Amino acid sequence: MTKENPTDLKSVKESTYFVKPDLSEAKKRGKSTVQVIPFEKLPEGMQQIGKGKYYLLKTYGCQMNSRDSETMAGILETMGYQVTDEEKVADIILFNTCAIRENAEDKVFGGLGRLKHLKLEKPELILGVAGCMPQEEKVVNKILKSYQHVDMIFGTHNIHRLPHLLKDAMFNKEMVIEVWSKEGDVVEEMPVQRENGLKAFVNIMYGCDKFCTYCIVPYTRGKERSRRPEDVIAEVKELAKLGYKEVTLLGQNVNAYGKDLEIDYGFGDLLEALRNVAIPRIRFTTSHPKDFDDHLIEVLTKKGNLVEHIHLPFQSGNTVILKKMARKYTREEYLQLVSRIKKAIPDVVLTTDIIVGFPGETEEQFLDTLSLVAEVGFDSAYTFIYSPREGTPAAKMEDSVPDEIKKDRLQRLHELQNRISREKNEALQGKVVEVLVEGESKNNAEVLSGRTRTNKLINFRGDKQLIGTFVYVRITDPKTWTLRGEVMENPEEDKVHAFN
Ligand code: 5AD
Ligand code: SF4
Repeated sequence: MTKENPTDLKSVKESTYFVKPDLSEAKKRGKSTVQVIPFEKLPEGMQQIGKGKYYLLKTYGCQMNSRDSETMAGILETMGYQVTDEEKVADIILFNTCAIRENAEDKVFGGLGRLKHLKLEKPELILGVAGCMPQEEKVVNKILKSYQHVDMIFGTHNIHRLPHLLKDAMFNKEMVIEVWSKEGDVVEEMPVQRENGLKAFVNIMYGCDKFCTYCIVPYTRGKERSRRPEDVIAEVKELAKLGYKEVTLLGQNVNAYGKDLEIDYGFGDLLEALRNVAIPRIRFTTSHPKDFDDHLIEVLTKKGNLVEHIHLPFQSGNTVILKKMARKYTREEYLQLVSRIKKAIPDVVLTTDIIVGFPGETEEQFLDTLSLVAEVGFDSAYTFIYSPREGTPAAKMEDSVPDEIKKDRLQRLHELQNRISREKNEALQGKVVEVLVEGESKNNAEVLSGRTRTNKLINFRGDKQLIGTFVYVRITDPKTWTLRGEVMENPEEDKVHAFN
């Protein structure tokens, strides 16, 4: 870490910390082993600083960001702050931001702009920008230039430093910027305030070394660092003890888990160990096809608490585009992996991520994406139009595909995927599935809502006392994105797809 004096930036008064984010620096992966460090004690004077005060956290982006927000919330609550969702009541407003596509960033700038008047009315309000966007130098410069009402900017490697940064922002009244651009340690024992009492996110690794040419994540989240297996297992055991019913193991590329550890231990080994923990359901996201090995498939066939759902982004169905994306597999290799998975786990549900309109993508290449979608038969897909990210190799590639064509491709992809999703759901008509009852349905308090092992949303009538339990539900009315069903009174009498 180097500290720079920001004298060249007139708009920063005199930050206590200023470590500029730098994409080219971020790309240099050091060989140094990752340090596992414990969360530091709160700095002097910060223990009860938030007593009687409120924080508001706005989270953008992926599950990794949601989990980071739970850490930020945990840290703020240890200082005595309470949560609020009213901007006017808040003493601290933190934006935990996402940099994956341009429209994610636009939303954040829009939100920051709207808060300007509030900051003028209430100068003691602390406004912070955290997460992936501050890892981009251009974002920090833009905030310095056009959003000077922001008090605090910190990156994905600096979350544990929140109490110190907050102290500086509060008492020095200067814009505090701390963004460490590379590496990052693994910080254990951080406080956490989880959003949900039934389902929990558990980080198993941080960062990404894949450097897909379109993606900003390896720069914003640093190099791959795995948490020690004993720390992950202890966290899941603790969650089970607290009554959690489901964990989702998080990593940008969970299949690379353990590669950076000094022991010979991979993701399959971790799942094998977690299979024996008394937590009813374990999911994981996200998988990269390249590292999805046979040992992992074999462990998944054992099922139990390992659910039969795999999110397996393929991005493009054309090998030339895959090569330009640096995905490190061909169309055929992806399809072979899918057939190995389907053979081993016949009832597996596959979901995916797809990008259309990658620079130079031709109509024929796009048709390869459509045909792969049809051939695999995903239950659902997240689909995106390619968005150039400054500093990534793809942003420099010539892009001759007009926006209208990209939009049209997205539309055609949606139509195909929606038809397949509907067919997949219709095939479940009359089947009985195990459901974790999560709460009242969003649109109707009379109806309960839950998720199947394969993560499908299902609505059904039932007693509120069922919330937090597992029930068996017969599917009566499958739709494209959700299912409707009725709770089985005597599931033993039916042939159910039983848990364990
Ligand atoms: N443009 C569009 N989509 C992207 N993704 C990642 N980077 C970009 C980009 N620059 C998509 C990929 C990835 C998902 C999380 O976001 O499909 O799997
Ligand atoms: Fe981005 Fe590729 Fe890493 Fe996924 S695997 S986070 S798409 S670089």
